Amino acid sequence: MRRKLVAGNWKMHGSLSENEALLSGLLAGMADVKAGVAVCVPFPYLAQVQSRLQGSSIVWGAQNVSQEAKGAFTGEVSASMLKDFSCGYVIVGHSERRAIYGETDALVADKFAAVQAAGMTPIFCVGETLAEREAGVTEAVVARQMDAVIAKCGVASLARAVVAYEPVWAIGTGVTASPAQAQAVHAFIRAKVRALDATVAEGLVIQYGGSMKPNNAVELLGQPDIDGGLIGGAALNAEDFLAICRAG
Ligand code: 13P
Repeated sequence: MRRKLVAGNWKMHGSLSENEALLSGLLAGMADVKAGVAVCVPFPYLAQVQSRLQGSSIVWGAQNVSQEAKGAFTGEVSASMLKDFSCGYVIVGHSERRAIYGETDALVADKFAAVQAAGMTPIFCVGETLAEREAGVTEAVVARQMDAVIAKCGVASLARAVVAYEPVWAIGTGVTASPAQAQAVHAFIRAKVRALDATVAEGLVIQYGGSMKPNNAVELLGQPDIDGGLIGGAALNAEDFLAICRAG
């Protein structure tokens, strides 16, 4: 049985005081949560999150990483730096980074490799735009995104990774993929991995992301191939995030 994983992606939100309120709210409500829980926070808050969450059941992580190990890369943050703050997870390939910062499939694969080389777990995001869905190429897009990582790191690397299916048209829009739409793509992802390695496929945690909220989490997380959520907006409110965690 795969254990569900609910991860908050805070994106570029928060402040020391807001984070303190959110983290204490989360810690106070974790007793009846069975799913694994993580928060992926902006770099400057890693020390705060580490000191507040260590010893708890909540894992923390980052939202991006350099593909380079070290050197003259002004403004970049390496995987070993994230490891210094005991990050468990690092999001790679989020659609906002692909769309706004021009991250290619190959760059995302390099970042995925850097995260694993430092001993952390990538949360590897895939997903189609609305135009791609309407053109009927959702599976082709997701397959292409996955193939870049599989080609670079091998299918076995997915045993130490989480995949997040995030249809771009559902992110931050309030339009959620229906449970059937999401399940279909999750099943496609698992089948694609199964064709290469059945054991890796059965163990692979595939999260859904895109306007997951307390009122749709139970149905989404009830689908056979949906193993958790990657939560944006609702992760900024302790009660909403905990409600999703409890649905897992
Ligand atoms: P929302 O939950 O705000 O739609 O964001 C989803 C997301 O992008 C998580 O990475």
